Amino acid sequence: MKSILEEPEVKWGGTWTEIKLDAFAKYVSAYLNIMRKNTYWKTIYFDGFAGSGERKTRDVSPLYQQLMITEQEEKLYKGAAERVLTLPNNLSFDYHYFIDAKEDSLKKLENKLSELQKTKKYPFKFCPGDSNQWLLKLAQAMKENKNSYASLVLLDPFGMQINWESIESLRDTRTDIWILVPTGVIVNRLLDKSCNLTHSHKLQSFFGLSEDEIKQAFYYKESHLTLFGEQEATLKVTKPIEKIAKLYAQRLKTIWTYVTEEPLRLENSKGVPIFHFVFASNNQSALKIAKQIIKSV
Ligand SMILES: C[S@@+](CC[C@H](N)C(=O)[O-])C[C@H]1O[C@@H](n2cnc3c(N)ncnc32)[C@H](O)[C@@H]1O
Repeated sequence: MKSILEEPEVKWGGTWTEIKLDAFAKYVSAYLNIMRKNTYWKTIYFDGFAGSGERKTRDVSPLYQQLMITEQEEKLYKGAAERVLTLPNNLSFDYHYFIDAKEDSLKKLENKLSELQKTKKYPFKFCPGDSNQWLLKLAQAMKENKNSYASLVLLDPFGMQINWESIESLRDTRTDIWILVPTGVIVNRLLDKSCNLTHSHKLQSFFGLSEDEIKQAFYYKESHLTLFGEQEATLKVTKPIEKIAKLYAQRLKTIWTYVTEEPLRLENSKGVPIFHFVFASNNQSALKIAKQIIKSV
């Protein structure tokens, strides 16, 4: 169960990773440029799946074993955390939170960022544990300080680790969010061709929908006349991967006013979509910027 949900067989560190991180860094620059003129808000960067800051890891899971990258590439890699901390024109958040389930990865990240820490006013917070728990804490803190904090949240997992209720907790907070949705690489694989949803609970907690609602979104019934009379078959929709991205965007629209209904599509080397990178905000200009970035990368 764990492997199908959390270890998609894609090459992390491939072109799609760079496209995703470039798009995100562009958005962060635009966001901070706007927030700089708005000194009233204290800005928070919340990185829910921060990683170790390295592309290569000693992890022996099949996913990591596939990395196959050169030493040169490894040295050049700049993850989201490092990119956010080295933006041009001294653009910076006030507070930085880095979350990761693996304590040793966070330690590595802390070491890697130690020089950059000296350039920032407030100490970085490294928070080990499940991102879902930390998202609930963030939401609560933001609600208690409603007119003080604006946060930009990056959720960049490999798999389906994010529960809908964690996303939902951010309702009515001043939060902009980018989420990597494993549309092609995992969710589509859980949507069995004949509607046999063995991972129904995972799908339900991911979308925040009931099994019936999920079935309605991805399956339809068709009748065929056979020698033995009319028979009904349950079929999966065509273009399910695009449908997953659309449904997730629709779900986000129940929390945020502005969502990229055409998210950034990230493909493997064969042109098959593996992830969609979705943006949501309550600010119309923010959506306009995100859409322009998605078109340009
Ligand atoms: C794709 S990597 C992050 C890459 C990183 N954003 C970057 O730009 O280099 C995913 C990370 O999520 C962590 N992770 C997996 N499940 C998690 C969870 N439930 N909560 C927090 N972190 C988790 C893994 O340990 C891994 O380091």
